[in-house]
Formats: sequence, C-alpha cells, structure tokens
Amino acid sequence: MKITKAVIPAAGLGTRVLPATKAMPKEMLPIVDKPAIQYIVEEAVAAGIMDILIITNRGKGVIEDHFDRSLTLEGVLTNADKTAQLETIKDLHKLANIHYIRQIETKGLGHAVSKAKTFVGNDPFLVMYGDDVILGDIPASKELIDAYGTFGKGVLGIKPVSEDAIRKYSSLKVEKIKDNVFKCTDMVEKPQTKEEILSLYSILGRCVLPPEIFDILEHTEPGAGGEIQLTDAMKELARTIGMTAVEFSGKRYDMGNKLGILQANIDVGLKHPETAEGLREYIKALAATL
Ligand code: UTP
Repeated sequence: MKITKAVIPAAGLGTRVLPATKAMPKEMLPIVDKPAIQYIVEEAVAAGIMDILIITNRGKGVIEDHFDRSLTLEGVLTNADKTAQLETIKDLHKLANIHYIRQIETKGLGHAVSKAKTFVGNDPFLVMYGDDVILGDIPASKELIDAYGTFGKGVLGIKPVSEDAIRKYSSLKVEKIKDNVFKCTDMVEKPQTKEEILSLYSILGRCVLPPEIFDILEHTEPGAGGEIQLTDAMKELARTIGMTAVEFSGKRYDMGNKLGILQANIDVGLKHPETAEGLREYIKALAATL
C-alpha cells in the first residue's frame, strides 16, 4: 500500500532550548534561512507524501502562518523587484495539503500521535518528529517507506548513538536482516541502567506505523517522565507482529537541543551559496584561536 500521509507532532514545550522557545516553537527555529519544520515538510514531499497533519498547540500559530500564503508580502516583494526573495516564499502554500490539529494538553509524543486517528483512518502513515531534521541525498522518509513496501511491517528510522545519549532516547533490540535493514523485536524508552540497554541503536525522528497503533495508544499508560510515550506503544507492535528498522543514510540534527541547532546551522551554512565562503573563512580563522 502506498503511503501518502504524514503526521508531524510539533506540540512539545521545547524546554531544552528555553528561553528561545518561550514564544517561538522550536520547530520554527531557523537553519540558516528556513525554519526546521520546512526542511521536514520538504523531506515528506520528496518521499511522495501528499497530506500532512501537523500537531500543534497554543502558541504555535506561526507554523500555520509560515505555510499560508502572504499576499501582502508577495505584493511588496513584487513591487520592489525582489524576485529572488519572492521565489523563496511564493510556493510554500503549495508544498502539500497541510492540516492542523491541536493537542490540548502536552501529555507526550504518543498522546500527540493519537490525535491523528481521524486523519489517518485505516492507512499506514509516516511520523516525523517535528524537531528532528534529517539531511542527505536520499530522503530518510523514502528509505523507511521503501522498507514498508518490502516488509509490510511498521518501520523505525534508526542510528547508533553513544551510551550517554541512549539514556535520553530509546534503545532497540535489533537483528540484522541485510545491509542497513534490521528486524526489531523489543525496545525501551530512556533506559536508566546498563542492563536495560538493548543496543545502542535508537529511533531518531522517523517511523512508519500501521493504523493498529491507535488501539494500542488508547491503553498505553504514562511512562518515562510521566508522558504517554510512542515508544511504549511501538514496543507492543515490536513484541507481537514485529517491526523493521532502517539505518537511514542522512545526517540527523536535533533541533530540540542547543548543540544540534548549532551543528545544523554550521553544516547547512557551509553549503549555502550565500554563506559558504564567508562561513568557511570565519571557521578557519576561529579554529586557529581555539
Ligand atoms: P520531545 O520530547 O523532544 O519534545 O518530543 P519536548 O517535550 O518539546 O522536549 P523538551 O524536553 O521539553 O525540550 C519530540 C517531538 O514530539 C513533539 C515535540 O514537539 C517534538 O517535535 N511532542 C512532544 C508533541 O507534539 N507533544 C508532546 O506532548 C510531546
């Protein structure tokens, strides 16, 4: 079955990047000249997604404004002959059919995803964490969707991380099928002890889920941090029907974390035609003083 729907949970509080996220959603923090969520929507579109549901909440209206048409701004740029600038904004509202729903209470990622039930219906769908930007030649979402086509089970986008990082993320029990593709039969969210760590592979920002996840989410109890964790619901899928895990080829940036934001801006800035040369010179000069 072709996957054409994506859900982007973007209703978190972003407490790790306060005060920047007091009035500005972390999903709108820029990487050079585009907000993080635009990279995510563009990845979805490149992977063949046509309908996107963004889960928002109070204070996240700027996300809707960003993907809306601004006739006033278009008029000003047209009159000022600012064609290049006009090009960057005029087609944003045509990227995909973008829908919005609010998560009234911030009860966790699993709870946010459960809000997508009506939008998703009976189809498998892609979940893209709103603060995880993945950049690479092949869209990570496409790699996951292709694996869903081959194996017909829910798919997790994974990467190995440090032992320190795994305690803040999820840890997966995986068995290699071939190359970058694994079978996943168990997982744990934020393992606290060494014994709880199943492997250093963690879910980073993308998964394809079957609609059965909604029944599971209905009885998923609050887990780590008192939140309804998507990992706890996916664990039930992994333990019963099993899941597939794909080590995606792109590089992932955590926009919910100060260092991740800086790394994304440096890497993209070093490639951007308007900043590449100046930034390279700046970094070289700076590095000599470190
Ligand atoms: P995170 O756990 O990284 O987001 O969730 P957070 O809660 O904003 O993080 P901190 O710890 O306070 O800094 C991953 C994704 O899930 C969304 C977030 O917006 C982010 O894109 N999310 C999280 C929701 O939509 N709702 C929630 O209740 C929690």
